[in-house]
Amino acid sequence: MSQQRIAFVGGGNMATSLIGGLLARGSAAASIVVADPDAGQRERLERDFGVGTTSTAVAAVPAASTVVLAVKPQQMAEVSRAIAAQVQASRALVISIAAGIRLGDLARWLGPGVPLIRTMPNRPALIGAGITALYAAPDVSTESRQTASAILEACGPTVWVPEEAHLDAVTAISGSGPAYFFLLIECLEAAGIELGLDPATARTLAVQTARGAGLMAAAAIEPPAELRAQVTSRGGTTAAALEVLEAAGVRGIFAAAVTAGARRSTALAAEFGTL
Ligand SMILES: NC(=O)c1ccc[n+]([C@@H]2O[C@H](COP(=O)([O-])OP(=O)(O)OC[C@H]3O[C@@H](n4cnc5c(N)ncnc54)[C@H](OP(=O)(O)O)[C@@H]3O)[C@@H](O)[C@H]2O)c1
Repeated sequence: MSQQRIAFVGGGNMATSLIGGLLARGSAAASIVVADPDAGQRERLERDFGVGTTSTAVAAVPAASTVVLAVKPQQMAEVSRAIAAQVQASRALVISIAAGIRLGDLARWLGPGVPLIRTMPNRPALIGAGITALYAAPDVSTESRQTASAILEACGPTVWVPEEAHLDAVTAISGSGPAYFFLLIECLEAAGIELGLDPATARTLAVQTARGAGLMAAAAIEPPAELRAQVTSRGGTTAAALEVLEAAGVRGIFAAAVTAGARRSTALAAEFGTL
């Protein structure tokens, strides 16, 4: 990674997390430049990380071997068109972290011959606990794929998906997924209060249980169903609670929710494609 010169276009939350992770893993600050129109944002990035900054994408991109597009989805068309001639000339690898922007649209905005990789990180990336899915067209080189993996791994593990359409499912699972777990925490907290616990205790119990279950599931060799079985004795308290969830159709509810999220992701991508 230290050989790469990376230009981040957009120096907001996600770029900040990726840059922090890259520096912690040994990348040199001098190898990173960030474009952001916000002077306060640039000062913060220079102060906190010692990276170079520019106020425009066009000024950041020329020296870069890799360009990470980290602006909001609705800004992607404009930013891509602004740097199109430069990346066509340099053949820099362009990595998009924007939700819902399709490779076909990026290619249309950036022009021909630019190697492109689309990624879908998630919110816990902001604390280095993210998960990112990546997709590239078959003609993108192994070296480019490795570069993209190494950058996104700054915020957590990565997985590659074999079809771009899978990113809609990714969006509905890991992209939106933190909200499902927050909702579950809210529900547990509210139920605890209803049963007489004070709010602070109910929240601590709910949050720490979510954390513990997530860490166990991540560390375990057993599948989650087996971990669940291990805490569910016949006729016990967990069995009584799970029976209520199953009877209410919790599996079908989650399947329907995730399907709705994936459909919305497809529809949003089509809307961005008209920009
Ligand atoms: N945050 C998440 O949880 C998350 C998860 C998955 C994917 N993503 C994706 O990551 C991308 C960035 O999200 P974020 O949360 O980091 O957004 P953000 O904090 O708003 O950062 C975007 C930055 O880009 C700057 N910008 C706007 N126009 C620009 C231009 N022409 N050239 C250079 N910089 C420009 C913005 O400046 P101004 O504020 O002055 O406009 C802002 O500082 C989005 O596309 C999003 O879909 C985010």
